[in-house]
Amino acid sequence: MPEFVGYAVEDGIAVLTIDNPPVNALGIAVRQSMLAGVGRAAADPAVEALVMIGAGRTFPAGADIREFDTPRLDPHLSVVINMIDAMAKPTVAAIHGTALGGGLELSLGCHFRVAAPTARLGTPEVKLGIFPGAAGTQRLPRIVGLDRALQLVVLGDPIDAATAREWGLVDAVIDGDLRAGALAFARRAVAEKLPLHHSSEPKAGLGRPEDFKDIIDKWRMTVARRFRGQRSPVEAMESVLDGLRMPYYEAVAADRARFEKCRDSLQSKALRYAFFAERKVTKVPGIDKDTPVRALAAAGVIGAGTMGRGISIALADAGLTVTLVDTSPQALAAAAEMMNAHWDSQAARGRIAPDEAERRKARLSTATGIDALCSADLVIEAAFEEMGVKRDIFARLDKVAKPGALLATNTSYLDIDAIAASTARPEDVLGLHFFVPANLMRLLEVVESGKTSPEALATAFALARRMGKVGALARNGFGFVANASRAPMVREANLLVEEGAEPAEIDRAIEDFGMPLGPLATSDLSGLDVSWRMRRDTAETRDPSLRYVHLADAMVDAGRLGRKAGKGWYLYPEGSKRVPDAAVTALAEKIAREQGIARRRIDAQEILDRCLLAAVNEGARLLGLGRALRASDVDIMWQYGFGFPAWRGGIMFHADSIGLDNVLARVDEFRARHGKMWEPAPLLVKLARDNGRFTD
Ligand code: CAA
Repeated sequence: MPEFVGYAVEDGIAVLTIDNPPVNALGIAVRQSMLAGVGRAAADPAVEALVMIGAGRTFPAGADIREFDTPRLDPHLSVVINMIDAMAKPTVAAIHGTALGGGLELSLGCHFRVAAPTARLGTPEVKLGIFPGAAGTQRLPRIVGLDRALQLVVLGDPIDAATAREWGLVDAVIDGDLRAGALAFARRAVAEKLPLHHSSEPKAGLGRPEDFKDIIDKWRMTVARRFRGQRSPVEAMESVLDGLRMPYYEAVAADRARFEKCRDSLQSKALRYAFFAERKVTKVPGIDKDTPVRALAAAGVIGAGTMGRGISIALADAGLTVTLVDTSPQALAAAAEMMNAHWDSQAARGRIAPDEAERRKARLSTATGIDALCSADLVIEAAFEEMGVKRDIFARLDKVAKPGALLATNTSYLDIDAIAASTARPEDVLGLHFFVPANLMRLLEVVESGKTSPEALATAFALARRMGKVGALARNGFGFVANASRAPMVREANLLVEEGAEPAEIDRAIEDFGMPLGPLATSDLSGLDVSWRMRRDTAETRDPSLRYVHLADAMVDAGRLGRKAGKGWYLYPEGSKRVPDAAVTALAEKIAREQGIARRRIDAQEILDRCLLAAVNEGARLLGLGRALRASDVDIMWQYGFGFPAWRGGIMFHADSIGLDNVLARVDEFRARHGKMWEPAPLLVKLARDNGRFTD
């Protein structure tokens, strides 16, 4: 009996059950067992057909991604698939859960596919910087046609069973018991001598590229627009198009070489790293599956501003009832109107059903007094960023909130310990730091105070999951981890303008690197007064020996607050399109004169290094202090909080890929030129010396 693949014969049908929890990934042991099982079924005269099914929660969800970092292990998956395809007896894939990547390719080797109604099928490989590497790019177009194959392979998004049926990717959707249904299908295939479908046919090719010009042009444009800078969507598309340029076996061989190049690329390594980083980030020391998680049904949100509204939407979307509290009835009315309009527009655009929009609206209520939160299981405070205000709210909340309620603040930099200390239950207090727009951005920074209980933390992580967000732990400290590690990038962007770079050059360098919006354009969006206020509030504790962002203050003094003022680092003559403004250059020249800075031309590489390595150095400092748990957590925060491209891994991964000795040399160079704010973090110095990496 093979170890990872169960073998049983029922009424003349061999059933291979792939059993490699949790997702039945097709690692070497599974492939070896499959080969043995298929061989046995083929050779057994008592076996008339074969059914292949996944044990547990899913059909195989793909190759074992961890194997991509090891030398090639034979047999390759395509050997197994070809063997199934070549069988003279009918073979049926019975799909439930997710048939993804190599899992879907395995099913394409079968002559028939049947699926549970909830099954999802797809080829998400581009999200790992590769493309289907076991002939899926050749087999798929032979089943669903070129356009749909390109959709699956280039975008990487799965389709549901009903769509798969419509496209001919599955032959039947089976309600009820899948195994029994698949066996019945196999019996029928034998009894009725159904012709066996080989997805490798026709072998001669799919037609000529000229016959598909419109489709090819459409996908070339999509790839260029949606995946700027990324290699695998291009290779995925070319791989499919090989099927038009050459016969099946030649195309498969060409794809093999193409695949290996992709797999070994830095982009793929970065995406695979990001995949595992996302799964690691929720694993928090001291919390495990036995840590109690409190049930959350009723939430309260304090503050009806932008954050309070976004958070309320996110909570109601996740099925919680929300009582929004603000002292201003006008603010509450405006917030409720905006939120209801949001749900109406979601329904109008077909994103949610109309009755679902009504259910979400019904979950929202408003109140002017904090007493209304007496039965809330969770309260998130999103009031004004001022310690006095927060402490007062939490002291009052402590009096009204029920025992065991989770009390969270959405502050983006204030001391959580000090806020918790204004209650008699600091163990229930933590930071839940949302990013704008709170209902859309996937990062939720969960900030632990010195006293937050494991139960409260576990509940916060469960809430993040429920809202479809990625929770990441930060320990208390100014700006926590995400903003704290980003602040030096913004500082450098500001200083670079003083030194002679144009705002557009800075933003373009960062955007060409892959971030959706440069740091200065982002400041314009959030408002230059936000960081100005923070600088004002923290002026007393500022180290006077550090370089200061004089230009940023001058911008605020000149009323250049960003988009809302129609001018900031750019002009915004008609809404959102940014236009460079000579007045900013003139202001920068003035500040440079006052500060004795000699302005010069600054190239894109220096802009990138200044902005990114400043963030890396700060990330290293936070890691050294234990404020961030893992370098990969910092990277996940940048990905989901700031849109850092997953195909670059993250700032810490980026630093590792440059080599930490090179990073340190550059940081030292900047230290010599710009002073103490570039003091290398002890962890960076240590790892650079030991030839180490942040992400190991
Ligand atoms: N290889 C190795 N490990 C995998 C894996 C894979 N393909 N897919 C999931 N896992 C692991 C996860 O790392 C996680 O491990 P831990 O519990 O140790 O953290 C565990 O399985 C469960 O995964 P999730 O937490 O992601 O579970 P989920 O239920 O939220 O999601 C899923 C399940 C949708 C299958 C999701 O895991 C997923 O998208 N997996 C990747 C699918 C994929 O990319 N497949 C293509 C692989 S490449 C390929 O197949 C190339 C080829 O052409 C041969």
